[in-house]
Amino acid sequence: MTLFQRHFLSDADFSASDIETVLHLAGEFKSSRSQNAYLSGKHLALVLEKTSTRTRIAFEVAMKRQGGFVTTLDYGMSQLGLRESIADTASVLDRIYDVIAYRGIHHDEAQTLSHQSSKPVINALTDIWHPTQALADYFTMYEVKNPSSWKDVNVAYVGDGHNNVANSLLTTGALLGANIRIAAPESLQPEFTIEARALEAAAESGARILITEDPLEAVLGADFVYTDVWVSMGEPIDAWNERINLLRDYQVNSALMNATKNSEAKFLHCLPAIHDSHTEIGQQIASNYGITDGVEVTDEVFKSPASIVFQQAENRLYTIEALLVLLASETYRQDV
Ligand code: CP
Ligand code: NVA
Repeated sequence: MTLFQRHFLSDADFSASDIETVLHLAGEFKSSRSQNAYLSGKHLALVLEKTSTRTRIAFEVAMKRQGGFVTTLDYGMSQLGLRESIADTASVLDRIYDVIAYRGIHHDEAQTLSHQSSKPVINALTDIWHPTQALADYFTMYEVKNPSSWKDVNVAYVGDGHNNVANSLLTTGALLGANIRIAAPESLQPEFTIEARALEAAAESGARILITEDPLEAVLGADFVYTDVWVSMGEPIDAWNERINLLRDYQVNSALMNATKNSEAKFLHCLPAIHDSHTEIGQQIASNYGITDGVEVTDEVFKSPASIVFQQAENRLYTIEALLVLLASETYRQDV
């Protein structure tokens, strides 16, 4: 089934073959580095209820590379939230734009937007899912390892295992057939419904899934060790106290990287990362908890040769470019 005009609200909206199609086209866009015009004259509305660096620039540059245009609407600069609901906003966007990307606090709002829109809606991160991130993550793993099968790709995610990035990494990996391990304290493991959906996908793809409280068990034999921030956007600032207590033993540091017993193991992070105390949050954590050399990952690992986080960030562009073309370009659809 073609991806043209489909919504992409969660990883589970796509099949393994849909994901492979996106990754393949992303590879073509990255290797040619040429500008195409598959989205010539098309307009994207990028609606941001939360801040963004990578996702925003990836959508904006991808549209420009393909000859399209972007309007970025954020909550400080539009009527959204304060004076107008997402449903009413969606009805307006639907009449003017060809494709919509939405970064929001509540996943329900992304669903509302998609119900009001006849144009494809892409989830640019919600509290539950970050599916465009997972596309770049698996694209990067494939690029680095060049496996003959996803079954040979061993991914360990260590830290807050019930956030958007972990949910998407698990679900996309399960669809593709990778070997995914998540290490988190019980209260921070993926929700039952997310795990059940991943297990269902794994039964079809042959993916192996392990959810454990033991970070050493998770990383043994890993090709890729992945972590994300311990408190996500939209969560209360006082959650830091609880998370630091719960996740202290889940920090990605040199000892944990060595515990992979794989000298080729690479480090992944969706970014932004708190790997030192040079940011406002980093400073607050340093003064409140005395943690100065990194929270979810040490500065040492972040800056080590094993770290491929900026390659991963760059790949947001090509994967989002491929997704936009597949969802919104009639020209591309006619060409293939
Ligand atoms: N990884 C990611 O989504 O980064 P931004 O929040 O900067 O978009
Ligand atoms: N889990 C993080 C991801 C940021 C890209 C958050 O939602 O803040």
